Amino acid sequence: MSTAVSRDRIARLKGLRGYLEENVIGQCHVIPMVVDALLDGELGLTDPSRPKGTFLFLGPTGVGKTELCLAFTRYLSNREDSVARFDMSEFQTQESLAVLIGGKLGERGVLGRRLDAIGQEGTLLFDEIEKAHPRVLDILLQILDAARITMADGVTIDLSGFHVVATSNIAAQAILESRRSVRATLVRFIERQAQAQLRPEVFARFNTVAVFDRLAFKDLEAIARHMLIREIRRHEEAGYAFDYDQATVRHLAALGFDSRLGARPMRTRIEAFVRKAMREALFADPGRREISLVVASGVNRDSRQAQRN
Ligand SMILES: Nc1ncnc2c1ncn2[C@@H]1O[C@H](COP(=O)(O)OP(=O)(O)O)[C@@H](O)[C@H]1O
Ligand SMILES: [Mg+2]
Repeated sequence: MSTAVSRDRIARLKGLRGYLEENVIGQCHVIPMVVDALLDGELGLTDPSRPKGTFLFLGPTGVGKTELCLAFTRYLSNREDSVARFDMSEFQTQESLAVLIGGKLGERGVLGRRLDAIGQEGTLLFDEIEKAHPRVLDILLQILDAARITMADGVTIDLSGFHVVATSNIAAQAILESRRSVRATLVRFIERQAQAQLRPEVFARFNTVAVFDRLAFKDLEAIARHMLIREIRRHEEAGYAFDYDQATVRHLAALGFDSRLGARPMRTRIEAFVRKAMREALFADPGRREISLVVASGVNRDSRQAQRN
């Protein structure tokens, strides 16, 4: 794995940070450190007997942890499907170990099957690792340590071409409740909590520990604008034209945010908002191609309530 990296590849890698900053909003503390670590791995500067990068993403729900992981993998591999994602809340029991790496009957396990499909390079994402059964965590340790994993059927898979990301909501409440406290203090608190709640040897195996911030309203607006543009682009290609303004974006930012789920509901709610406007316009006038997404002031509260129900 220590062949020199091509000039073309290096030129592409230079664009990584810009790409991530465009696609993952409001995580300006996280992106630079994650990018540096990604680049070290991509440039072949890291230990070849370990994964290219090992990341622990901490923070509340719906602030871009998974999104960042998907975005960097998309950029680095040019493929949508090079992420093998495992929700550790589904691997809480001893029996789930066999589901992951296979059992006595020689089956491959979900990990084996997913890795077979991805090939030599990509990203392994373990969500909510604090929920994993200790035996399942042992597998993660092995991956972080040696970049290889022996499946129950005896076949060893080499993971040295992979980045490994684990996420956890540990101490997320502290981030949500923080009132302008000094970031460095908060980060130290979160890291200490994570260290105490995960096994210390697990925590120590991650080269990059990144604490994600909660999203400010201006971040939600930027995300809403992004999603709105993407949603209407499809319809514009089909011949529709849309009218919206900053108040529309603000309305959608509020509509798509949930105090527990962060921006998670946003995409679905924006889609529903646009499609409802289109249905109503088309029923009122079947020939209509101009769709207004302008929100009347005062309407906001009602439609927001309606969407939540
Ligand atoms: N910082 C962000 N930038 C852009 N989109 C975001 C951000 N945070 C959340 N989102 C949106 O909300 C959805 C849920 O975010 P996700 O990254 O899955 O949250 P989590 O932090 O829980 O992993 C994503 O699909 C994305 O569309
Ligand atoms: Mg996630």
